[in-house]
Amino acid sequence: MKVDVLLGLQWGDEGKGKVVDVLAPRYDVIARFQGGPNAGHTLEFEGIKHVLHTIPSGIFHPGKVNIIGNGVVIDPVIFKKEVDALIKMGVDISKNLFISRKAHLILPTHRMLDAASEASKGKAKIGSTLKGIGPAYMDKTGRNGLRVGDIEHSGFQARYDALVAKHTELLNFYHFENSITEYEKGFLEGIEMIRSMNLIDSEYEINDFLSKGKSVLAEGAQGSLLDIDFGSYPFVTSSNTITAGTCTGLGVAPSKIGEVYGIFKAYCTRVGSGPFPTELNDETGELIRKVGNEFGATTGRPRRCGWLDLPALKYTILLNGVTKLIMTKPDVLSGFKSISVCTHYIYEGRKIDHMPFDIVNNEVQPVLMEFPGWTLQGDGMNDASQLPKELSDYINFLETELGVPVVIVSIGPDRKETLARHPEFA
Ligand code: IMP
Repeated sequence: MKVDVLLGLQWGDEGKGKVVDVLAPRYDVIARFQGGPNAGHTLEFEGIKHVLHTIPSGIFHPGKVNIIGNGVVIDPVIFKKEVDALIKMGVDISKNLFISRKAHLILPTHRMLDAASEASKGKAKIGSTLKGIGPAYMDKTGRNGLRVGDIEHSGFQARYDALVAKHTELLNFYHFENSITEYEKGFLEGIEMIRSMNLIDSEYEINDFLSKGKSVLAEGAQGSLLDIDFGSYPFVTSSNTITAGTCTGLGVAPSKIGEVYGIFKAYCTRVGSGPFPTELNDETGELIRKVGNEFGATTGRPRRCGWLDLPALKYTILLNGVTKLIMTKPDVLSGFKSISVCTHYIYEGRKIDHMPFDIVNNEVQPVLMEFPGWTLQGDGMNDASQLPKELSDYINFLETELGVPVVIVSIGPDRKETLARHPEFA
């Protein structure tokens, strides 16, 4: 068997949590491979709305194995809150949640370093979620980090104290006071809880599942345009959010990658700073934000909204090797007289349809194409053949432009509001 991958093709918040939850019944194992509690994957079913930050979105399906892979960074405080909330809802974590020993820990001082670094950047700040993601990955690549498996060893406290001392020096450099005491209490409680959980060598477990014929779905976090290598650097997150991150974040070989599901919204959003060529700083942008409830699931920040960006989408389809597309939220645009799509950029006076090296200091101007809008009443719809003609035409146009089929259309947050465009997903 191979690992199928599901990831976002834009700047995050494409609706990955919902779609993983919908696809979960088809898989035996769901695994997160990068990112951490900067993610907020929202799931809605049976009148319940739940946001997951670190735990894979297959957790509500009894009998499915959920793995937090080595590429993930875990904040024990946030993780404990997530686990406590799930236990309260009657989810049996003890049997279906597993954590890689090689996943790195986010320390309370990582959060403070994140805040100090952002404050020092002034207007050039990244707009980080301030969850300590960047500093934790810096310690990982700097070979200073602490991993989940370290908590099983007696030397953990000494190593923790040494790293905190190092961080305190750095905080002094930033003239930032180290005030972690309260958070540290929660951190140590979280560590105790993690110690009692199923800690595994996930690279062996996942490969073992594959060789036994079990199906695995890798769940991406953030979005491809926030990838540390290929995103709009430096306005990116600190991990590889693309398909390649699955290999390093779970320990699976490239030859073991199967389908790659790329999720995109019918429009674009971005939270935090950084370039956004199709951003709408007008009432249309505000309307999309309001109707689409475009506020961060983790931070509550209003998301910036704009039209769909095809050069960006072509770029992330290429980077990820996307085999199937999933569109979300066309319902948000219901009632718009017309909608627009960016087909090209004007860059240094030329019309291009690729992503140039630097769109941070060298702005690109979007070339827009207009489409008639649609009215979408989701009630009673069973599959995508019942979608309004204008929306079907729009999707057909995108398929032709992007060269990849759109197999699922999500028309609302609930599990049930999901339409197949291909019999395989009926
Ligand atoms: P960090 O990963 O928290 O440091 O944030 C870096 C950038 O990525 C900021 O612009 C964040 O707003 C953005 N970001 C991080 N995680 C997410 C996410 O899950 N969805 C959308 N944007 C995110």
